[in-house]
Amino acid sequence: MSPSAGDRVLVTRRIASSVVAKLDAYFDLDVHDSEEPLRRDELLDRVAGAAGVLSMVSDRIDDAFLRAGDKDLRVLANYAVGFDNIDVAAASRHRVVIANTPNVLSQATAELTLSLMLALVRRVPEGDRILRSATPWIWSPTWMIGRGLAGGTLGIVGLGRIGKEVARLAIAFGMDVIYANRSGAVADAPYRSVTLEELLATADVVSLHCPLNDETRHLIGADELARMKPDAVIVNTARGPVIDEAALVVAVRDRVIAGAALDVFEREPEVHSGLLELDSVVLTPHMGSGTAETREAMGELCLDALKAVIIDERCPRNALNPEAMRAP
Ligand code: DGY
Repeated sequence: MSPSAGDRVLVTRRIASSVVAKLDAYFDLDVHDSEEPLRRDELLDRVAGAAGVLSMVSDRIDDAFLRAGDKDLRVLANYAVGFDNIDVAAASRHRVVIANTPNVLSQATAELTLSLMLALVRRVPEGDRILRSATPWIWSPTWMIGRGLAGGTLGIVGLGRIGKEVARLAIAFGMDVIYANRSGAVADAPYRSVTLEELLATADVVSLHCPLNDETRHLIGADELARMKPDAVIVNTARGPVIDEAALVVAVRDRVIAGAALDVFEREPEVHSGLLELDSVVLTPHMGSGTAETREAMGELCLDALKAVIIDERCPRNALNPEAMRAP
């Protein structure tokens, strides 16, 4: 089927111009061409009359949004694999198909995870800060001593697509891998499945790769941090609220654990001020999927989903709620 003139698609943030050009060939595009998110009232205004939306993790897609989209809105392609910003059950009630962008960002996110691990245990940002502050230095056998990854145990919380990719890379660095999954052991995973308690007590590096939902919010709090070894570190490239940030600040400050590396935060874009004061904490601004190829591929997947529903009137392959698909 060909697009009809009224097939308006709202893109809620600036994305790669190559993806915009492809979308433009199919839809009447309304692009919020800015690095800043749309204000809530603008978001609700601009969804009115749109057949599809390409949304960001920072857009709250709830009942009010879906009501503003009314009967015209048929599909929402979230430019992310995580969809904790979306009330999927409400979308199903409103018959809006939700799609996300799995697979294409696993490698990039895993690479950032390994970068953070290495940066933390080898103290890369600390070294960089020393040089930039013009602190006098000279090579010394006992100065800026870190730890290696080889021979250590990596504990993966959530062995999904990204967790598996992290495991694969960690093996190449000589690590032993164990994992804890809420749904139990993963078929064909050549790593030892353990309870979260055992993982926390055993791992030298704990890396979080679970989705954010009611069961995983504050999965790691003061008690869990206290179970970790004092020389262990924690890495989070999943979602900020999986860790109780205030408890983490205390645990690192009081040397309950040796450090943390975070790409995501509890109240993004805000970062807990206590984290900023700690040398043994490495911070990056939610950039796990941030490579040009990955962001392009995420855009392509969103385009596929929008085309599938609006033009071909079929369910997209990455639909999270296929039951929401309306009859042609
Ligand atoms: C995701 O995909 O969920 C990331 O957090 C954004 O790329």
